[in-house]
Amino acid sequence: MLRYDEAMLRYLTAGESHGPALVATIEGLPAGVVISGKQVRAELARRRHGYGRGTRMKFEEDRLEILGGVRHGRSLGSPLAMVIHNTEWPKWQQIMAVEEEDGVLEDPSLTRPRPGHADLTGMLKYGFPDARAVLERASARETAARVAVGAVFKALLAPLGVTIVSHVLEVGSVRAADRDLPNPVDLERIDSSPLRCLDSGAESAMIEAIEEARRAGDTLGGVFEVVAWGVPPGLGTYVHWDRRIDAQLAQAIMSIHAIKGVEIGPGFDIARTPGSRAHDEIQWEEGKGFSRPTERSGGTEAGMTTGAPLRVRAAMKPLSSLARSLPTVDVNTKEEAPAITQRSDVCAVPAAGVIGEAAVAFVLARAMLEKFGGDSVAELQRNLHAYMDEIGRR
Ligand SMILES: Cc1cc2nc3c(=O)[nH]c(=O)nc-3n(C[C@H](O)[C@H](O)[C@H](O)COP(=O)(O)O)c2cc1C
Repeated sequence: MLRYDEAMLRYLTAGESHGPALVATIEGLPAGVVISGKQVRAELARRRHGYGRGTRMKFEEDRLEILGGVRHGRSLGSPLAMVIHNTEWPKWQQIMAVEEEDGVLEDPSLTRPRPGHADLTGMLKYGFPDARAVLERASARETAARVAVGAVFKALLAPLGVTIVSHVLEVGSVRAADRDLPNPVDLERIDSSPLRCLDSGAESAMIEAIEEARRAGDTLGGVFEVVAWGVPPGLGTYVHWDRRIDAQLAQAIMSIHAIKGVEIGPGFDIARTPGSRAHDEIQWEEGKGFSRPTERSGGTEAGMTTGAPLRVRAAMKPLSSLARSLPTVDVNTKEEAPAITQRSDVCAVPAAGVIGEAAVAFVLARAMLEKFGGDSVAELQRNLHAYMDEIGRR
């Protein structure tokens, strides 16, 4: 029997950080989604952006190819397959060779696992003698494939009226000032700012904090927010734990590397607020129907979307690979040693926001298909519009 989350829209990725390519397949996409390689490449470029990224982002390209499921710019309803070639592959083809006879072992081998990474537990769990076989798949490079599939889910959502924006709220201990929620029209300004932050004063302080961390051989985490506009009421449900939309969002966001906390709307702050100021009162007006003058719920109640903008925040831990390596133990000698050094970012919160958009796009696209069904975008649109007309009359 299929699990609930396997029965509808789903995707899988494959590939290692320094392997020949990343691969992604999507199953359950309806026909008629407008998709172009250009659009997916533009999303991949947004993931590479952001002050604080390491040298890899500068020399590496995301060479994307769509291999199946799309014809003349429209999805066919068949599985969609994409590949993101690794332009650095020639440098890695021996260390990451598929065939045993083509491979060479690294010199020296990676036997000093990095604290905060998958290295040690992965080696113990899978029985590997060093960290290479672990870190290659555990690397956040895999999120390039998630952003590529996210571009497809956004293209599915666009004709349904849903747009997704993300922005950076905190880097280290620097916080952007509270402001109105960013709109889709703000996206261009967000994407052209160095840290994808709308508060330029705070952004300068964030850049300074990143530079200070860089000089100290340290790293910084932070907080980003994803906002989805145009989400209809009633996606998700209260009837089962795994069908609650807030639970699905938390899982999707939490699955992003280095994310350690998720909030829906005001999240933890609401726990400190009295009930009289924590909820959105309901009003009704002739001709306008139901409305709520506040947006405190973050767009969900009881596992369902309410129709208000959906707001999800995520806390990203400081990156684990430090230029000034943390102490660890060599797994062969059992002696204390500095952890292996890998090329690393100082801060990747802006990129994580773009990955967060892809995660939210997946959950919303799946929920739209669950509620409105249809084998084509036109059928999905018809069902959505009929439902919106119906609830508009109440
Ligand atoms: C976009 C992005 C880029 C990242 N870049 C790095 C990096 O350069 N160096 C690093 O140590 N960790 C980086 N990470 C975080 C690690 O992948 C993550 O901390 C590690 O896999 C451990 O995962 P976990 O703490 O979520 O369990 C990045 C994460 C994301 C989302």
